[in-house]
Amino acid sequence: LNLRITNNITHEIPSTLYGYMWEIVLHAGIWIWNINVDSFSGDGGLYAELLQNRAFQGVIPGTQNALNAWQSYNGARLSVTSKTDGISAALPNSLQVQIPKVISGPIGFENTGYWGIKVQEGWTYNGSFYVKSDTYASSITVSLKSSRGTVFASQTLTGVSSSWNKLAFELSPITSAANDDNVFNVALDGEAAAGQTVYFGLFSLFPPTYNGRPNGMRIDLAEAMAATNPTVWRFPGGNNLEGDSIDTRWKWNETIGPLEDRPGRIGTWSYPNTDGLGLLEYLNWAEDLGAVRVWDGIALGNYTTLDGFTAYIDDVLNEIEFITGNTSTKWGQVRASLGREEPYALRFIEIGNEDQVALAGSTRPAFFCSKYAAYRWSAFVNAIGAEYPEMQFLATSLPSLALDPPYKRIDFHQYDTATFFETFAFFFDSYPRNSTRWFVGEYAVTSTNETNPLALLTQGRLLYPTLAGSTAEAAFMTGMERNSDVVFASAYAPSLQHLKNYQWTPNIISFDASHIVKSTSYYVQQMFSTNRGTHVLTTSPTSDNNSVPLYWVSNTGPDDLVGNIVLDFATPGYATAISLGTPALSPITGSFNISNTIEEPEQITPVASSFTFQDPTRFNYTFPATSVTVLAVQSI
Ligand code: AHR
Repeated sequence: LNLRITNNITHEIPSTLYGYMWEIVLHAGIWIWNINVDSFSGDGGLYAELLQNRAFQGVIPGTQNALNAWQSYNGARLSVTSKTDGISAALPNSLQVQIPKVISGPIGFENTGYWGIKVQEGWTYNGSFYVKSDTYASSITVSLKSSRGTVFASQTLTGVSSSWNKLAFELSPITSAANDDNVFNVALDGEAAAGQTVYFGLFSLFPPTYNGRPNGMRIDLAEAMAATNPTVWRFPGGNNLEGDSIDTRWKWNETIGPLEDRPGRIGTWSYPNTDGLGLLEYLNWAEDLGAVRVWDGIALGNYTTLDGFTAYIDDVLNEIEFITGNTSTKWGQVRASLGREEPYALRFIEIGNEDQVALAGSTRPAFFCSKYAAYRWSAFVNAIGAEYPEMQFLATSLPSLALDPPYKRIDFHQYDTATFFETFAFFFDSYPRNSTRWFVGEYAVTSTNETNPLALLTQGRLLYPTLAGSTAEAAFMTGMERNSDVVFASAYAPSLQHLKNYQWTPNIISFDASHIVKSTSYYVQQMFSTNRGTHVLTTSPTSDNNSVPLYWVSNTGPDDLVGNIVLDFATPGYATAISLGTPALSPITGSFNISNTIEEPEQITPVASSFTFQDPTRFNYTFPATSVTVLAVQSI
């Protein structure tokens, strides 16, 4: 490959170019694939709460399912009930603990966390729960234990009475547990409790959190995401925004305020969301990122008509006022009362999710799409634009002249094979410069199956990103960056996958209770994002006129390739290279489909090197097989 880098600046690179698409729970859609397993990306993932099913939200009292993640300890009878008053109107369900008449020693129950609990020496775990009993007034001991009974930390509490009391505690383990097979144990004094009934509600147990925020984020996951320097944050879905029915949509105003007032909901795919990670938590986390989406009145299992639509528009206007209004506004005042006086910055509002405008090949029935074009887009854009003229709107259709007012920005999604992304590395080069701009809001190489890139794992779907897939994404990203006058933002998707319970694969970061796996795609995103330029310089060749699979800095092929790089400016003759897909691995057979996994999380990580060259205006660089490289030279 001959690559000439000129002095000619074509355009500025937008500051929003790289970021994340965020979804509280990640699912393949029931109506498309019908697989009822979930990935836990918010609850059990980024949201640092350790106790699963902490407030019995979204469950049917009396069922075994309602006791998900809870187990009896030493013979207590457990059930979830709504027959006694709950701790709040929003949380009507309680854990009923009945103690047998004959018992010796401690008795109670345990929470098994999100498939385990990380117990770390030196950490302080902050916990609390509500308790009441008409007859039991003795002590309660809480502890972090291994499932075999080793106690790492414990505290004994008093304060049980016939009305709800909140008991708070701190646990400081004296040693770290060997693995995640640990439980949070709650034990009553067996002798005093014999024959008694005790009720519990809204448990919580937090390890230290990112930036020390209460109700905050799991540190390793938050740090990993922050380390990619994301500047756009799209939330709270995906599909999870919309709900399976209108009533189960994400309701922003039920995700704010004390946890006691957040009812939670069954997420889009029949899975309870605690909504502990609510609108304010998102905004704090994404403070500098400046992106938010709104629910647009289209639900997956249902759809709204124009009748009664005003209520949804009003709801969205209230949400925007809550985010951006000063304290003289009603909702700005509510925000201030929750501890945040200063309004948040908000620049982009996306109307809906994947509402393709009745195009051939759309997986959605045409009535969703046509209503989007006919009135949903107009209704929201006109109403919000009238009050917030500075807001920029994103349509979730494909480019369409049917939208009125005309769209200026669209959110485009693509899950596909490496072949697709390599081919589309040049898509934006010929895209008309007609002042419409793209957010590539969800994209990933998901499969090696060219006919069905969303098929099952047994049919080519990837469990983790592969080096081959990540280099193809990088090839596509070179196209986005080169054409960032058209593509103003992008987000690899989805973000997080709990390896003990997942559905959508692959994700950029996978994890369990105490480990994380940064995928090859993670490193590609990080390399592009943290080495973001300010301007694009013209390079030649400018299009796909090479016969080799070298897309500027991404070598997607199985052989090492030499680039002859010519610079239209003089340099000190010194360059640095950060390369993913190390020469050591290449061309080992099979390295093409290699992944970082939970068993081998660091098989492929970026390697830094530097070299000098004689002629200050040219050098050769060998791009290793199946690799992505960031080359940096300095002009004199
Ligand atoms: O990222 C998973 C899902 O894919 C998202 O919820 C949806 O927007 C897309 O179809």
